[in-house]
Amino acid sequence: MKIIVGNWKMNGDNEDKEILLKALKNLRTKNEVVVCLPFTLIYGNNHGITIGAQDISEHDNGAYTGDISGQMLKDADVKYVIVGHSERRLYHNETNTIVKTKAMAAIKNGIVPIICIGETSEEKNTGRTNSVVKKMLLESIPGQGEYIVAYEPRWAIGSGKTPTEDEIKAVFETIHKALHNIGRDDVALLYGGSVNGKNAKQIMNIPHVDGVLVGGASLKSDTFLPIIKSID
Ligand code: 13P
Repeated sequence: MKIIVGNWKMNGDNEDKEILLKALKNLRTKNEVVVCLPFTLIYGNNHGITIGAQDISEHDNGAYTGDISGQMLKDADVKYVIVGHSERRLYHNETNTIVKTKAMAAIKNGIVPIICIGETSEEKNTGRTNSVVKKMLLESIPGQGEYIVAYEPRWAIGSGKTPTEDEIKAVFETIHKALHNIGRDDVALLYGGSVNGKNAKQIMNIPHVDGVLVGGASLKSDTFLPIIKSID
């Protein structure tokens, strides 16, 4: 079974949610589909679709104005949460240590964290992709519990550019091997960055790619459904 995760980022309203989730409800697929909504849209009628969040506090509760805890997400029936997305690493200075703590907070509350890692264009252009990704991975993952890893090259996000098949293959081999070495062959691996209805199937056929993390194309059914259908 493949996993297709939509990340709405800071987009969408209740009407958009209603339209997309209804369309997903009517779609037959053998794969798992998850939509990671902004916090304000998580509550309400989710039409039986699996819902995820886009961030989680590393704290349990208390004086952390504006933050949302794992307990709160659990209470809202959230099953997955994205942690360490490159936009949070970039705009909120989230380090590997913070990402790891957030992943642990999710696991503690029975929520599966989707831990994001990926190199910048500068790191890619200087031939450091594999070493950067491996370091980010090993410093961001918790010691135990269920989690998913999403490889999202920063330069591929929202740019319409994707790595070549060989480049994706090499990075996924690196990630798979690093996890294998610590006894974690069970971790699902996702690719994210400019996934669309035309490239999803090809990316999904690369060894060790268990699913995709989709940004822009997950906002509307006419771009998200073709991705899901192409993989079925
Ligand atoms: P795009 O699919 O818009 O490139 O975004 C990818 C992403 O950041 C998903 O988390």
